[in-house]
Formats: sequence, C-alpha cells, structure tokens
Amino acid sequence: MIRVGSIGLGGMGMHQAKTFNQVDGCRLVAGADPSSDMRARFAETFPDTKVYDSPASLLAQPDIDAVVIAVPTGLHQPVASAALAARKPVLVEKPMARTVDQCHRLIEDSEKYNTLLMVAHCRRFDPHWKAWGEYVTSGKLGTPILWRHAMAGFGPGSWYMDHELGGGPMIDGAVHNYDFANWIFGEPESVLSSAIKMDPDVSAVDTCSAVIRYKAGHQMLVSWSWAARGNNLHDVIGPLGYIQFGTGNLTPPEEEGSHQYCCFTDREGEQSLITSDAGKDMYTYQAAHFLACIRGEETCLSPGTEAVKAIAVADAILQAGPEGRGGDLVIW
Ligand SMILES: NC(=O)c1ccc[n+]([C@@H]2O[C@H](COP(=O)([O-])OP(=O)(O)OC[C@H]3O[C@@H](n4cnc5c(N)ncnc54)[C@H](O)[C@@H]3O)[C@@H](O)[C@H]2O)c1
Repeated sequence: MIRVGSIGLGGMGMHQAKTFNQVDGCRLVAGADPSSDMRARFAETFPDTKVYDSPASLLAQPDIDAVVIAVPTGLHQPVASAALAARKPVLVEKPMARTVDQCHRLIEDSEKYNTLLMVAHCRRFDPHWKAWGEYVTSGKLGTPILWRHAMAGFGPGSWYMDHELGGGPMIDGAVHNYDFANWIFGEPESVLSSAIKMDPDVSAVDTCSAVIRYKAGHQMLVSWSWAARGNNLHDVIGPLGYIQFGTGNLTPPEEEGSHQYCCFTDREGEQSLITSDAGKDMYTYQAAHFLACIRGEETCLSPGTEAVKAIAVADAILQAGPEGRGGDLVIW
C-alpha cells in the first residue's frame, strides 16, 4: 500500500487528494499547505490524515511514500526538488515548472536521487483526447495536420496572472495543447508568437496567439485570452478529413455513462462519431499510472524529460509574444 501525501491543498490539490483517496493500491495519509483555511478544509474532508503547514514538515515524515504537488506553478521546482531530495516519488501538476531552467533542475534532481518524477499531463490519460489523437496518428486525416485551438474568457486570476508564478493562459492553459501535440506530432521545431495586452493590471501575458511548427511538418495554432470573452474554436484538419469537438450533425447513441464525442468528417463530407471509453476519468487513470510506475510495473508516460518540451514551447511563445516575432525554441 503506497502512502500518499498531498502538497498544496487548493482547488487542484483537493481534486488530486479526492482522486488518490479512491484509487486502489494507495492510501491518502497527509496534506500540507501554509494556508490554515486550506488545511482545515482538507482535515475536515479527510479526517484520517495528518496535516502540516509546510512541505518540509510533510517531507520529513518517514511514513509517507510518495507525494502529489499542486502549488502555484512558479513554486513547482523548489517544492518538487525538496521531495526528490527526500526520495519521495513525485507527481507534480502541469505545467512542469515555470521555466525550462527550472525543468532542467528537476530532471537533474530526479536522476541524482534516483527518484520518479512524473508530470500530471492529464490529457495523456484522457480517453477522449486519446481517441481523437489515435485518429491523427493512424493517418485518417492524412498529412500534414493543422490543429487549431482558440479560447477566450476571464481566467482564474490570482497567482495565475502573475508573470513569474503563473505566466497566464499561454503556459497554464495551453500547456495541455503543447504537451499533447508533442505526443502526437513529435518534436516541436519553431514558434511564431504575438501578444496583445488587454488587462493593464496583471504582469502575465493575458492574450496571445501562436503558431507552432513540428519537425514532421504539422502545425498548431493556439490563441488564448484570459482577459476577454469570445467564441471558442477547436478542430484538427488534414487533407483527408477533419475532427471537430462535439457531435457535429450526428445524434449520439444512447449509451450508459457519460461520453464525450468528437466528429470526424471525411473528404466527401461523410461524418462519423469518435467515441471513447466512458469508464474512469483522466485523473483516475493518471493516479493509477503513477502508482504503477512507483511499483515498477509500468514505464512513466509523462516523465520530466518529456514535459520539459512543452515548457520550451511556452517559454519561446512568452518571450516572443510581446514583440510579435519568432521565438527561440530551446529544449536542452
Ligand atoms: N491538471 C489540471 O487539469 C489542472 C487544473 C487546475 C490547476 N492545475 C495546476 O495545479 C496547480 C495548483 O493550482 P490550483 O488551481 O490548485 O491553485 P490554488 O491557488 O487553488 O491552490 C494552490 C495552493 O498551494 C498553496 N501553497 C502556496 N505555496 C505553497 C507552498 N510553498 N507549499 C505548499 N502549498 C503552498 C496555497 O496556499 C494554495 O492552497 C497549478 O500548477 C495549476 O496549473 C492543473
């Protein structure tokens, strides 16, 4: 039985704690957060656990085997490095860290202390995203592919909009896209990026558009604002067909459980639904995989050496965006 401690007990930390509390093969035993309100909420939800007011006090406990870290992104590296030094396997929330240099430090510490570092890129465990991703990788859309994703709305605020701690939507929201694109398209090659400042009161880039090119010839267009409302666009297009999110013009079958759908339209306009397993959610699959990696039963699907590539894309976009230019994409 793997005994798990949760570090950072805000929105995502509580979600992770609830997930680990119901996954087989582990027991949620502790939580840590400097906020007394967050500690009180955790203690009330999980009365059989211990609570600590700092990561250091939790990490000093010998009866904790592994940790889940969900603190503000700018703090991922110091907190995760301390956990690795204490030889506790780490599941750290996405984005892996705020900068590529911080990611390198985490990879070095994972190697130095010979301790697992997994990044919570939950989309790699999402049955829905995996299903449409397989359409892309199996060649049903042809090649090359253009993935277009535009999002707008008012963001979560707080540290998320601080340049150093959160970095805004082009890292925090779009990192899911960068990482998943790296998975299905392969190595990223270059970026073009252009930002617009809509909210003068935040230090992070709040609105930005970027085109990322991949060595295999594919591209991704990402445009994201956390400062304005707008329509969302999400599709994946190729010479043989395209995928849109939702059911298109089709009526979904009546099935048990909650399903998410994509619609594939071929060259002739014929539509078919892409369905996925409605069993468990992505966080549950992710937690089960983390535990299996600790037991040595599975090879990590989201190691730091992979997640750093998404931060390299984010870094290049954030550096180039304010000047509207091509960014230097440097992974190592
Ligand atoms: N995978 C996903 O779908 C997903 C969704 C939301 C957030 N996240 C990620 O999870 C992380 C946390 O986000 P959130 O929304 O829970 O933020 P939050 O602000 O709700 O919670 C962060 C918590 O960390 C605590 N904290 C601050 N400094 C700390 C320290 N040194 N040690 C321990 N705790 C500390 C704060 O008191 C707070 O309770 C971020 O990296 C975010 O990007 C991931």
